[in-house]
Amino acid sequence: MSIPPPTTSSITRDLRHLFSSVTLRRAMLNPNPWQRRVWKQDHIKVVPDKDRIMKWNIVPGDFVRQIPDRFNQNDNPERYEVLSVDKWQNKVYLKGTRYKTEAKAKWVPYSKLQLWIGNLSLHEDGETTSVYATRIGSTNLKYNYRKKRFEWVRYAEATSPPMPFAEKRRIPWPKEKQPPYRAKQNKYYDTEADNALDKTWLPFVPQGKVSTFNEESYIGDLFTNKDLPSQWQASIPMEHIIASELTNPHSRARRQERWQERLAMLERSKQEYVKLELADLKGRRRQDAKADGVFRWKIAVRKYKARRNWQRWVRRGAKAKMEMRIKRRHRRSARKLRRLRMMKLKDAKNQVAIITGAGSGIGLESSLLFAQEGATVVLADINLGAADAAAALIAKRTPNAKTMVFKTDVSSEKDIKAAVDATVERFGRLDIMFNNAGIMHPQDDNAVTTEENIWDLTMNINVKGVWWGCKYAILAMRKNPTDESLGLRTGGSIINVASFVALMGAATPQLAYTASKGAVLAMTRELAMVHAREGIRLNSLCPGPLKTPLLMDFLNTPEKRDRRMVHIPMGRFGEAIEQAQAAVFLGSDESSYITGTDFKVDGGISSCYVTPLGEPVLAPPKNLSAAT
Ligand SMILES: NC(=O)c1ccc[n+]([C@@H]2O[C@H](COP(=O)([O-])OP(=O)(O)OC[C@H]3O[C@@H](n4cnc5c(N)ncnc54)[C@H](O)[C@@H]3O)[C@@H](O)[C@H]2O)c1
Repeated sequence: MSIPPPTTSSITRDLRHLFSSVTLRRAMLNPNPWQRRVWKQDHIKVVPDKDRIMKWNIVPGDFVRQIPDRFNQNDNPERYEVLSVDKWQNKVYLKGTRYKTEAKAKWVPYSKLQLWIGNLSLHEDGETTSVYATRIGSTNLKYNYRKKRFEWVRYAEATSPPMPFAEKRRIPWPKEKQPPYRAKQNKYYDTEADNALDKTWLPFVPQGKVSTFNEESYIGDLFTNKDLPSQWQASIPMEHIIASELTNPHSRARRQERWQERLAMLERSKQEYVKLELADLKGRRRQDAKADGVFRWKIAVRKYKARRNWQRWVRRGAKAKMEMRIKRRHRRSARKLRRLRMMKLKDAKNQVAIITGAGSGIGLESSLLFAQEGATVVLADINLGAADAAAALIAKRTPNAKTMVFKTDVSSEKDIKAAVDATVERFGRLDIMFNNAGIMHPQDDNAVTTEENIWDLTMNINVKGVWWGCKYAILAMRKNPTDESLGLRTGGSIINVASFVALMGAATPQLAYTASKGAVLAMTRELAMVHAREGIRLNSLCPGPLKTPLLMDFLNTPEKRDRRMVHIPMGRFGEAIEQAQAAVFLGSDESSYITGTDFKVDGGISSCYVTPLGEPVLAPPKNLSAAT
C-alpha cells in the first residue's frame, strides 16, 4: 500500500460538512455566537448536500477530470493534477488550468470530478485505456501505531469505462514527491488563516478569566488562538479529533463546565439560606439576618463536604477491595502455575515420549508405564513385530493412550530423524527421548578374542545410536510449543541407557559393550552441560543386571548366573519394571533439578564390597507385561 498522504486540508474552520443540511440550515437561521463569529462571512454559502465532501478521498497529487457530457460522445475532458482541496468551500483546485500557472489554478466542485485510476488494459488485446473512478469508497480509519498516524484505503466502487470484473479496485494514494505541503506557501489553502497547520491538539489553556467555557468556545479558541505550540499531526483528520474530544468526559472543557456548575450551585444555595433568614427577621437587623444566613450556609457546606469526603472514603474502600481481589486472583494463578511446574508425568496428559528398543525388556516395560502415566508413546524398534505387539498390549491395558509404532534402526541417522520428524508432525512436540535400544553381542569378549566387526556393530548401535537420538531430540525439543495452562513447556528430558558395567570392572568381559556404555556416560554428561540452560535435561540410566532377554540369553547356564549373583547385595536380578520406574522419574518434572547424572538403579551392586548372607525377604515387583 502506498503511503496515505496527510489530507492537507484536514484542518478547517468550517465543520459544516459534519452536519446534515437540515441541521445546517437551522444553524444558519439562528446561529449561536461562535457560529456567528466563524460563519458570518459573506462568501460562505451553504453547500448543497451533493457537493459536500464527506470522505476526503481526493488529495493533492491525484489526477482528475470533469464528468464528461453523457449525451456528447465526443466529449473527452482533459485530465488535471489536483493542486489542493478546499474543504471549506468543497472545491478542488486543478493544476495548470486557466492561465497554466499554479497561481491561477481553476477550481471545480468536488461532485463534478472523476478520479483517474490509471491506464489499465481491460481486455486481453493488451490495449490500455484511461480508467476513472466514478464512485469512491473508503475503509474505516485505522491508527498505525508504528507510524503514529491514521491510515485508510480508498477504492473505486464504480468506474468509467466499467471494469470487466465486479470487484472493488483499490486506488493507491499518490506518492509524496515534494516536501510536505505547507499552507503558508499556498494561497489556495482552505482557510485564509494560514497558521492553520500550526494548530495543535494539546489541551488549550485559557488565559485570564473565562466567562463561558464550553465545547464550542473550546473549539472556537482552538482555531483562533495563535499561540498554541506546534505539534500538529497532519495525518489525523480533524473530524476524528473533534469527535473524540466531544465524547471525552474528562476533557478540560467538560471539567471546567462541571467546576463552574458546582460553584454556581454553591452560590445558589447561599442565596437561598440568606433569603430564608431575610423572610423572617425575628427582630434582627437585615445585615445580621444575612450574616446568620451565610453562617448557616457555611455549616451546611461543611457538612456537605464531610459527607462527600466520607463517600470518597467508601469508594476508595471499594477500590481497595477490588485491588485485593485482583491480587488474590493473581496469587491463585501463580499457585496454579507453580503446581503445574511441580507436576508429575501423571498430570502431564500432553507429553510425548519416544522409546527406542520398545519391543522388549526395559523398553517394553517403559512403554507400558509411560502410557499408563498419561504420556503419548512412540514405540521405535528395529523389530517391528515386537513393537506392534507392545502397542497392542498398551491398547489393551490403557485403551485411551495414544501410541505410534515406528520401525527404526537406531544406528541409522536417517531412521532416527524420520522417527523424530514423524512424531513431531503427528503429535506436535517431543518431551521425552528414551534412548534405550542397545545390544550385547555373544561374541563380544576380551581384547584378544573380540572381532573388529563385533566391536563396530556394538559401537554403532550403543554409542552412535544414542548420539543420533540425542541430536534429533534436541533439535525437536528446542521447538516445542509452550502453553503453561496445559503444562507444556519448551525443552524436555533425554534418558540414555548405559550400564553398571561402565562404572565397575568385571572379569567376565564384554569389551565392546563395556566401552560403549562408558562412552554413553561421558557423552551424556557433556551434552547435559551444553543444553542445561535450554530446558533440556540429559541423564544416563545405569541398570544393574536384569532378568531380561538381553542378559538371560547370555547367562544361559546356572553356573554363569551364580557367578554373578554372589556380587548382588539384594540377592536377586533386577526387573525391567524397576528401570521403567526410574525412566518415568527422570522423564517427569519430579526430577527437574537432575541433569548430567549417572543414575544407578543397580540393587546396590556398584557400592558393594562384601554381600550379605541369606535369602532376600522381599519378592521382586511384577513386570507390567507379565501381569494378567
Ligand atoms: N538387561 C540388562 O541386564 C541390562 C543391564 C544394563 C544395561 N542394559 C541396557 O538396557 C538397554 C535395554 O536392555 P534390554 O534388557 O531391555 O534389552 P532387550 O534385548 O530386551 O531389548 C532391546 C530392544 O532393542 C531393540 N533393538 C536392538 N537393536 C536395535 C537397533 N539397532 N535399533 C532399534 N532397536 C534395536 C531390540 O529389538 C529389542 O526390542 C540396552 O541398552 C542395554 O544395554 C541392560
